[in-house]
Amino acid sequence: MASSKLAVILLAAGMGTRMKSALPKVMHPIAGRPMISHLLDTVSGLSPDRMVVVVGPEMERITQAVAPIPTVVQAERLGTGHAVAQAREVLRDFDGDVLVLYGDTPLIARATLERLLAERRGPHDPAVVVLGFKPDDPGHYGRLVVGAEGLKAIVEYRDANHEQRDIRLCNSGVLAIDGKRLWSLIDRIDNKNAKGEYYLTDVVALARSDGANCRHVEGAPMELLGVNSRSEQAVAEAVVQNLLRERAMEAGATLIDPQSVWFSWDTRLGKDVTVWPHVVFGPGVVVGDTVEIKGFCHFEGCTIADGAVLGPFARLRPGADIGEAAHIGNFVEVKKAVVETGAKINHLTYIGDARVGAGANVGAGTITCNYDGFHKSFTDIGKGAFIGSNSALVAPVRIGDGAVIGAGSVITKEVTPGALAVARGSQMELAGWADRFRAQNAVKKD
Ligand code: UD1
Ligand code: MG
Repeated sequence: MASSKLAVILLAAGMGTRMKSALPKVMHPIAGRPMISHLLDTVSGLSPDRMVVVVGPEMERITQAVAPIPTVVQAERLGTGHAVAQAREVLRDFDGDVLVLYGDTPLIARATLERLLAERRGPHDPAVVVLGFKPDDPGHYGRLVVGAEGLKAIVEYRDANHEQRDIRLCNSGVLAIDGKRLWSLIDRIDNKNAKGEYYLTDVVALARSDGANCRHVEGAPMELLGVNSRSEQAVAEAVVQNLLRERAMEAGATLIDPQSVWFSWDTRLGKDVTVWPHVVFGPGVVVGDTVEIKGFCHFEGCTIADGAVLGPFARLRPGADIGEAAHIGNFVEVKKAVVETGAKINHLTYIGDARVGAGANVGAGTITCNYDGFHKSFTDIGKGAFIGSNSALVAPVRIGDGAVIGAGSVITKEVTPGALAVARGSQMELAGWADRFRAQNAVKKD
């Protein structure tokens, strides 16, 4: 086996004009994180010795997203071959295997990359190994021209003749190159083609003209679709969502209508979780065991402990920490708040910057008034407290353990443990007033 050292070059300098976006293409999200982050995760599983990301000018957002992996700037986007040439400084003395990946092909699996590398390191000692695939619609992908003696060339769609366009085996863009031969191949790429670009894909024909061997391995179309437009992004999203749904069910969750549940790449569900239709898991959600999530909930950046019951129509925002067997009901929003074991917040409520003690009961229409237009303040609700419906708790404020708040109260001062606090206009009654009022007005009307 040849050297097992590995360098990875990730190309991300293209603006992705077909996305029609101010955001660089590889920063567009799939399952709640940028495409490029999916790729970096996959590649890090190969433990490469070196990595470099090629970005365009004014793409600091990518540089920040990939840090501490170094980036090099391709000042002019003259093609994928030119983009790889920009990595020369970083890889000058590297003579192991070089894997080139395109930032807009985010779904590739690590096992597929391992197969590609195994072929490169195998007995044929090919200069270049290309990852091919056969999509249902070969569209504008480059085509792999394969002969008895292996891979002969990659022809870009725009440069291909009719016969070549009929080839179903397409170029995924992923290739492995022998680092010792890489720069001599890259140096000889020219831009005499339909697009006037330096095509990386030309390394195959160049290596062949040197008498070197080139090969291909075939990957699954689902992993290799390139995202060049919003509709291709939607296809990639659907592929990932199906994988995530399968993963959740395999891990012991019941999804009553899987197609209507949307996951983020990092959603974690425990065992015996039931998810009803139309639930969205934004990034950073961790759910314990035997949790029931009823329909139309929206969660992000939150944790839910064992046995909790949520929804329908519950919204958990970042920092919501829902305790064991707690209930969060319909039209309840919780943000940056700890809801302790067994607490119930069942209807029409906003809890933000707060603690709701164990076993507390928060009545319908309760609002923690946490924001004065400048600062956020904290509401502390003690364990076993009972907050009457339609109460406003004006933070900062503390409700002692076991205290009761009368319905309709506006609480602005601390309530001591075990006390009743009522803060609303007191009820008065004038006996017979309504009857007299009606009688008087009936006379006037005549
Ligand atoms: C490329 C391949 C094509 C393949 C397809 C797979 C070439 C010449 N063509 O076409 O054979 O079937 O991918 O999806 O390689 N990039 C740069 N700098 C540039 C140009 C592109 O960094 O100057 C980056 C882009 O950010 C992108 C990747 O390279 O991540 C591919 O570029 P793109 O323009 O999408 O190439 P395709 O036309 O899709
Ligand atoms: Mg592309």
